[in-house]
Amino acid sequence: MTDLLGKSVLSTIIQTPTCGALDFVERALLSIDDAGKISALLRPADEGYAEALDQVRQNGILLELPAGQYLIPGFVDLHIHAPQWPQLGKALDVPLEDWLQEYTFPLEARYGDVVFAERIYADLVKTLLANGTTTAVYFGTIHQEANRRLADICHALGQRAVIGKVAMDHPEQCPSYYRDASAQDSISGTSDFIDYVGSLPGNEDGRVLPAVTPRFVPSCSGRALSGLGRLAEDKDCHVQTHCSESDWEHGHVLARFGKTDTQVLSDFGLLSRKTVLAHSNHISDADMDLIRQAGSGVAHCPLSNFFFSDAVFPLRRALEKSVRVGLGTDISGGPSASLLDNCRAAIVAARALDHGVDAGLQPSSRGIAGSRIDFREAFYLATAGGADVLDIPTGRFETGCHFDAILVDPDVETAPIFIDAGLDSPDDIAQKLVMQATRGNFSRVWVNGVVR
Ligand code: GUN
Ligand code: FE
Repeated sequence: MTDLLGKSVLSTIIQTPTCGALDFVERALLSIDDAGKISALLRPADEGYAEALDQVRQNGILLELPAGQYLIPGFVDLHIHAPQWPQLGKALDVPLEDWLQEYTFPLEARYGDVVFAERIYADLVKTLLANGTTTAVYFGTIHQEANRRLADICHALGQRAVIGKVAMDHPEQCPSYYRDASAQDSISGTSDFIDYVGSLPGNEDGRVLPAVTPRFVPSCSGRALSGLGRLAEDKDCHVQTHCSESDWEHGHVLARFGKTDTQVLSDFGLLSRKTVLAHSNHISDADMDLIRQAGSGVAHCPLSNFFFSDAVFPLRRALEKSVRVGLGTDISGGPSASLLDNCRAAIVAARALDHGVDAGLQPSSRGIAGSRIDFREAFYLATAGGADVLDIPTGRFETGCHFDAILVDPDVETAPIFIDAGLDSPDDIAQKLVMQATRGNFSRVWVNGVVR
């Protein structure tokens, strides 16, 4: 018995339902309804626990997971470039502006070939599910057919997904071989894709959702940006884009508009509660206030940022300002498909920002003290934090949330994690899993109560 629709599961759970708070419960009893949502979570100390456990046992609907294995919420990856999957781990040697023109646009242009697109997208979605990514936010390409296949594949493989047709029409930044024919083309192509996802048979519950996706301000004309802003409002759908990622990118937008990315996006109606801003490394305090007021969220991509952003995202400052933040792999800007690798990179990046990196400076002026985060906060970003950015009820074990979960087995021969009951507290176990677990430890992954 592995699918859990209408069933219950008894397991140790580890989760961070709020930022920084670790919830570790042995023998937690989770009940899942026929629609794949959690209908009850009972802890051994809760009233009615023993009776409920007896009942599901008698009814033969209990999956009892072995002690020493751990159930954690599935990961929410807020920023993935699906077409860049074949480029993972390559082409990390040049700045963003050259990387786009030399490597990335030529690769993305190939997705006019639907057979190529299907092969790559199927492999990507399978790999992400195996890595525990139960919710994924994707940039596609400019191509209608390839984007549709990406939506079909996510739907068929059961991954929760938000997907956008990339809009890019500016002749100055987009090569003639890879750009929308006009601003109108960017807008109508986006609108067609939104309609396609909305009428995908079997997708009535909206497990796959569309997003308005201006690649970034430099690649879009003002006409495209304003039309896309109107479209996002009309269709009430998600928006995703890159924001103030690198010195070059941030400076380019300042020079073109005399404003920051955040202000430009706001002016064009692209900053809403449903907006996901990738990176946002160079945003000012005023930008952060604007993002918080709009209710938009940030996809923090710590691994990618080491290669392309010239700076560390001010995560602590964003959290203190109540900006919603989750994590993104930014495949292939970041060379890993694992959101846990990005948890670890977020911890390392925040620590580097905290104490600084130049030993030639005095310790007191080397970093920004107070910037560090711990494993609990990183794990929150990868799960409940990302879910909250999207306003999707997942990322935590709570009544009413989708049962999207990973079973972690530390005791696999090829990826062992040493855990010792006498040496490790519950906090230690959680920290060891966040710092060490890999895909090899994920023995099962569920989306909506079904094994994927
Ligand atoms: N800015 C515009 N396009 C991209 C992209 O594909 N990756 C990253 N990291 N930044 C971008
Ligand atoms: Fe990106």
